Amino acid sequence: MQWWIFALILISIYCILIVILRWSFPEKHLNWESINLEKLEFPSEFMWGVATASHQIEGNNKNNWSEFESNKKLELSGIACDHWNRWESDFDLIENLGTGHYRFSIEWSRIQPKEEEWSDESLEQYSQMVEDLISRNIEPMITLHHFSHPIWFQEKGGFEVESNINYWITFCEKVFSKLGQRVKWWCTINEPTVFTAMGYVLGEFPPGARSFKKTRAVSRNLMIAHARCYRALKKMKGGEQANIGLVKNINIFDPYRRWNLLHWIQSKILDEMFNKCWLRGLKTGKFRTPSSLFSSKIPGLKGSSDFIGVNYYTHLLATPFMPTTVEIDPLIRPWEERTDFRYPMYAEGLRRSFEMVKNLNLPIIVTENGVADDDDDMRPEHIRRHLWITSKAIKDGFDIRGFYHWSLMDNFEWAEGYTQRFGLYHVDFESQDRTLKESGKLYSKVIEENTIPQVVILAGGLATRLGKIAEDKPKSLIEVNGKPMLNHILDWAESQGCRKALVLTGHLGNKFENFKHRGISLTFHQESEPLGTGGALWNAKELLDEEFILLWGDDYHPINYSSIVKHHRQNNSLLTMTVTESHDSMNLRHSDGKVVAYNKIDQESNFNGYEAGTSIIKKSLLYDYGKDGKWSWEETIYPKQSGEITAYIDNTKFWDMGTPERLSKLEKFFQNS
Ligand code: GAL
Repeated sequence: MQWWIFALILISIYCILIVILRWSFPEKHLNWESINLEKLEFPSEFMWGVATASHQIEGNNKNNWSEFESNKKLELSGIACDHWNRWESDFDLIENLGTGHYRFSIEWSRIQPKEEEWSDESLEQYSQMVEDLISRNIEPMITLHHFSHPIWFQEKGGFEVESNINYWITFCEKVFSKLGQRVKWWCTINEPTVFTAMGYVLGEFPPGARSFKKTRAVSRNLMIAHARCYRALKKMKGGEQANIGLVKNINIFDPYRRWNLLHWIQSKILDEMFNKCWLRGLKTGKFRTPSSLFSSKIPGLKGSSDFIGVNYYTHLLATPFMPTTVEIDPLIRPWEERTDFRYPMYAEGLRRSFEMVKNLNLPIIVTENGVADDDDDMRPEHIRRHLWITSKAIKDGFDIRGFYHWSLMDNFEWAEGYTQRFGLYHVDFESQDRTLKESGKLYSKVIEENTIPQVVILAGGLATRLGKIAEDKPKSLIEVNGKPMLNHILDWAESQGCRKALVLTGHLGNKFENFKHRGISLTFHQESEPLGTGGALWNAKELLDEEFILLWGDDYHPINYSSIVKHHRQNNSLLTMTVTESHDSMNLRHSDGKVVAYNKIDQESNFNGYEAGTSIIKKSLLYDYGKDGKWSWEETIYPKQSGEITAYIDNTKFWDMGTPERLSKLEKFFQNS
């Protein structure tokens, strides 16, 4: 064969190969200008959170990291955010953001500073922190290993030695036995790939090694540790109910030149070592460690995650000559914007991360996403884009349960020290002052817009028609099928994603003293004398949110809150009322989506609906009509607003317990459901 024919064949094969690669693995870039980033939709039970890690915020930790910082002459973590002393006020920051979830890690070196020494005091503090979070209705998510561990453990070889895993498991069990019955969300190991790549390939994290042999050992041992931890905790009290998962950092690798086969090969090798082999390991239980040729089975690994935590930050453009030090800027596309960390903002990669973990068939939680951006001019856009990607992916069928922004506040960014600021709150490390950034306000606003508003329950009404059982208690406290009516109402509200409720107890507030409900944070408000429904609301005006759901304490109305809230917001209404058309009596007339007449006492002939209990109100409406003293909300506002009230038609059966017959019907309903 002539040489040029041979060359031609080779070139053709090359071109075909490149075309196939380019076609099979597109590098998605969206035209962000043309996308409406305001258009977000999240389920009402979506977990909105913020994340931190112990060594990055607590201060004065003595662990593998603090040692590495001084040995390598890095910036010292020092007192960091002094969070160990300021946790209570830091939890105010979380509360102010409105996030109902918080991911943080437990510092092993505080719990077990020496091999034979356990600190009950530290464990007790973490326990108080958990208690405090729960009392604020912030659901804790605990990470058991987030890059840091005790010095004695490192001296024994850390995760390089398989038998050392026992130490970590003992620590995990200790923590779980204290907190396992209260904490529902657990992450075993944070980013095993980053831990090994940075600590054993690039040498940027402790122990600063550069050894493929060690990398293989550590990778395998981390997977063993994860699997063993999952199995051990599941066996403990609370384990069955706990959601335990691995947190995987997904880095997207793309070839720098999309016509260059070497770039493709490099990107595929990196993708395999950084992402694929780990995910495959989790899926099949057989793990081929990065850079080794064969896989081997890890007992208990298959099925060892109740969810997959995805930490996503960026994509990297691969060439065979990529820098192995962070000092050299990574390559980026010309239209991309560099973050302070020098890698680009690439929100499209979050979607690709979801696609990558999808075949694990596990619920996905974005356990970290954020950006290093000192002056906060990029973060708002970063948040908007990544939330848009998440919202879209949910719409397209991905099972994404939550999003935790990294990070609550600026903190110690490992090898980069304090130069990289990831927080929603700015931290002045001299004065330790925290200030909410514009991006923090934005995140908070998005959460507010996408969560179910405050529930306000008029719970003080007495049951005059119920006779003896209700002589001295408000109707909402009467037991139906084994628990007070108020409990049933709150259970429903919680199932709909409500996080806080204001209970207006009328003048018999002391009757509610022992009332408790886990899942919704409760505020009680009492009147000195009976004020009627309108008076009760006016009396509590300082405690009302700008928009709230109003419920009657003697009605059980299991409707979908998201739909009514959506309807209310779309109509930009001041008052949206649920109207049922299937009720034995009628008390209103509605037409063209509005309630045009209401009469509680006399049913008029053209009435075609009944007010079914759940309504949504803008506080400004209360201010338009509010007055001191006793007055009725429904009898004052409904007539005055007729024609303006948005009618939300929903024929879900609605239960009230006003008479003994109705009470027994409701009792039967609960028994059967
Ligand atoms: C992650 C890590 C976090 C945080 C973040 C920002 O890899 O889990 O601790 O530092 O990166 O770079």
